[in-house]
Amino acid sequence: MNKLNSITRRTLLAVVAASLAATALFAASISADPIKIGHYGSMTGAQATFGQSTDRGVRLAIDEINAAGGVSGRPLELITYDTKGDSGEAGKAVTRLVSSDKVTAVIGEVASSLSLAGGAVCQQFKVPMISPSSTNPRVTVGRDYVFRVCFIDDFQAFALAKFAKENLKASKVAILYDQTQAYSKGLRDEFAKAFKKMGGEIVSDQAYSGGDQDFSAQLSNIRATDAQVLMAPGYYADGAAIAIQARKLGIKLPLLGGDGWDSEQLGKIAGDAIVGSYYSNHSAPDQPEMKGFLEKFRSKHQGQTPDALAGLGYDAVYLLADAMKRAKSLAGPDLRDAIAATKDFPGVTGSITIDKNRNASKAMVIVEMYKNAQGDVVPKYKDGVAPDKE
Ligand code: PHE
Repeated sequence: MNKLNSITRRTLLAVVAASLAATALFAASISADPIKIGHYGSMTGAQATFGQSTDRGVRLAIDEINAAGGVSGRPLELITYDTKGDSGEAGKAVTRLVSSDKVTAVIGEVASSLSLAGGAVCQQFKVPMISPSSTNPRVTVGRDYVFRVCFIDDFQAFALAKFAKENLKASKVAILYDQTQAYSKGLRDEFAKAFKKMGGEIVSDQAYSGGDQDFSAQLSNIRATDAQVLMAPGYYADGAAIAIQARKLGIKLPLLGGDGWDSEQLGKIAGDAIVGSYYSNHSAPDQPEMKGFLEKFRSKHQGQTPDALAGLGYDAVYLLADAMKRAKSLAGPDLRDAIAATKDFPGVTGSITIDKNRNASKAMVIVEMYKNAQGDVVPKYKDGVAPDKE
């Protein structure tokens, strides 16, 4: 009797132990350890729409991936820090992501100067970083852990120069650029080079410092020239202010900007002053290939039209998840190799192949600012430029 009892007890204990183990296993498979991904972006400050918009694209991709079972059964967990549009803050944000949060990979930044700061940290800690939208060539140079899913400014500047020359029939251009931003200065340098090569002339080359509010001295100088186009390769808040102040001074020239103008704030702030001006970008909202993404984004964000940054953030996450699935492990060097091997990845902003310099060669679009039926000043597709395949 006693003996039987102890056997029963032991059997019972074993059964309980086994079922506990099974429960633990089951729990592990459904709530597997999340894979942490960091995003650093300007959620506030002078470039606030860059970070906010990118974060929306990033979150949309993460939600979809998690709803479909995550990456190898593990959900993606996003940690976002605000850089306030400041390089020092960007460095701090990335340090926190890689050293305290121990993220597997980092998405960011938009502004090239901030990606240069954050990239230094990712490189040091051997954590792969993908910038969705930093176009300055230096961002990925000498940093084998730093990638991007957009074209670079040599191509953007060349295509802008060609547009000024061939479409706008301009031979004389005035430039007003932000000397404190790697992006703006780089685009100005490359544009001037390309435009001169095409036989054009830069009749005025003026600088300002990000944060400046008054452009009247530079604009008066430009007004005194015979420029046919005013190129302003800064970020959107500056582009809008320059447009308004130029019109006040009686300057009627079309303005030409780079992708840094891409924000719903450009048309909202500048209004009529920016109508009839152009900028280069990664995608245009009225491009047919953007349709599916546009609808998903709009249904999540009260009908808001996504800018190019949302699409690029979305693509950066999907490309990263694809590399994670192919990687030997999620350790820095393995993940880096898998990202580097990405070929013909079908992004919503175009097909993405990571080249040997860790950049993407993609098509560019030129958009024109116009006033739509609702009276909003917004961009529409004007011209497409095929990827630079050299
Ligand atoms: N290309 C810009 C930079 O490198 C950032 C940017 C990209 C801004 C796309 C808006 C849209 O600084």
